[in-house]
Amino acid sequence: MNKKFYLETFGCQMNVVDSERIVDLLRQIGYGEVADAAEADLILLNTCSVRDKAERKVYGHLGSFKPLKDENPALILGVGGCVAQQEGERLLRKLPYLDLVFGTHNVHKLPEMVRSVEENRVRCHETEFLDRETRLQLFPVRTEGDSVTRFVTVMQGCDNFCSYCVVPHVRGREVSRPSAEILDEIRHLADSGVREVTLIGQNVNSYGGKEAGELSFAELLARVHEIEGIERIRFTTSHPKDLSDELIDCFGILDKLCTHIHLPVQSGSSRILQLMNRGYDREGYLDKVRRLKTVCPDIRLTSDIIVGFPGETGEDFEETLSLAAEVRYADIFSFLYSPRPGTAAAALSDDLGAKEKQERFDRLLALQEKNSREIWEGDCGKILPVLVEGESRQGDGQLFGRTTWNRIVNFAGDWSLVGKVINVRIVASRKNSQLGEIEESGSRNQES
Ligand code: 5AD
Ligand code: SF4
Repeated sequence: MNKKFYLETFGCQMNVVDSERIVDLLRQIGYGEVADAAEADLILLNTCSVRDKAERKVYGHLGSFKPLKDENPALILGVGGCVAQQEGERLLRKLPYLDLVFGTHNVHKLPEMVRSVEENRVRCHETEFLDRETRLQLFPVRTEGDSVTRFVTVMQGCDNFCSYCVVPHVRGREVSRPSAEILDEIRHLADSGVREVTLIGQNVNSYGGKEAGELSFAELLARVHEIEGIERIRFTTSHPKDLSDELIDCFGILDKLCTHIHLPVQSGSSRILQLMNRGYDREGYLDKVRRLKTVCPDIRLTSDIIVGFPGETGEDFEETLSLAAEVRYADIFSFLYSPRPGTAAAALSDDLGAKEKQERFDRLLALQEKNSREIWEGDCGKILPVLVEGESRQGDGQLFGRTTWNRIVNFAGDWSLVGKVINVRIVASRKNSQLGEIEESGSRNQES
């Protein structure tokens, strides 16, 4: 293996999983991965176009590789993912130093494309959407885990067409993988040491809904729960409209299901939710949250919220604030609305000034920072089960793991604990993680 590639991934878990496949495919054609772009023969960016800022980042980044290409004309530069899907051939026209563009359904074509650039120096692009059958055959599968936790893709694409969202346009229609294949993959992963699986999909809880005779998502969870060796189950991202009572009940029944759900609300105003084409209203959402908390009093919620959607009034925004206060999210990801090409909302008039939008954003952030601080600092002194994942990313020789609420905990301990669920006493809370000490004795699960 003497050729080298450098790969950078932006965006959501879908891209993370696609990038794993890219790594596998490139290895098969003799490329080894390097951490420094300056050493690479092939540079790839797997991109995100969910917001304008993410997209601009890609152009900025590509520009920064141009000097490398000027120095070494044999260097191959490629773009994949959602920006590639959205822009296609236009990217090649805009950036004369770019060699290849591959869309979200075309990762499997990468080896062929790289070879063709190597041999013929012909620039190429592949952004065709594939039919359902072909997509089902190409689902990313990993049967050997090299880590304690794994993402398992159970469905891809989205049929919801929320009016602000580019995803259905760049990822295509929804397809669910056959449950037998998913369960088989997870059994293999468990045999190779994986202890936690996160089932992922753009709209994960609509899993199976459109396939005749397929398990419902709640039934799929129950089957994963039976797999020996798997200790923890998570799933993301859920759409509130597809959160069935059956799925809510899973949080009360399935011990292995972590007591955290990411349930993006996007807005607290029913009027704005309707303009967003979300398929639920404020009361409907709050009702589901109440049911989750009844079934599982320990549950913690996180959310995505968009500030400044076209036509959002001060009153609408107050409703978002009051909803966030009522739900008491453990964390939120908040975004300033960003018009996306081809989406329905891009045609709506947006007359709110940037200053006003920013003020709303800052108010939401302040509310959330207070809630997050209280919730995570409130864990101090508790003894919580933590699944040990490996060496802490802080590089201080400590270990790290996660609580059921998906919070990273760093603590001193022996490497032999990796893969085990142990009791850790939380001693301090930082902005994005917690510090703990192993609790030698004492009972497990002193949550809440
Ligand atoms: N503008 C701002 N935020 C957006 N999101 C998706 N599309 C847009 C947009 N056009 C946010 C939503 C979604 C998250 C992944 O990104 O909150 O849940
Ligand atoms: Fe986008 Fe809505 Fe689909 Fe989520 S459910 S990917 S926000 S269209």
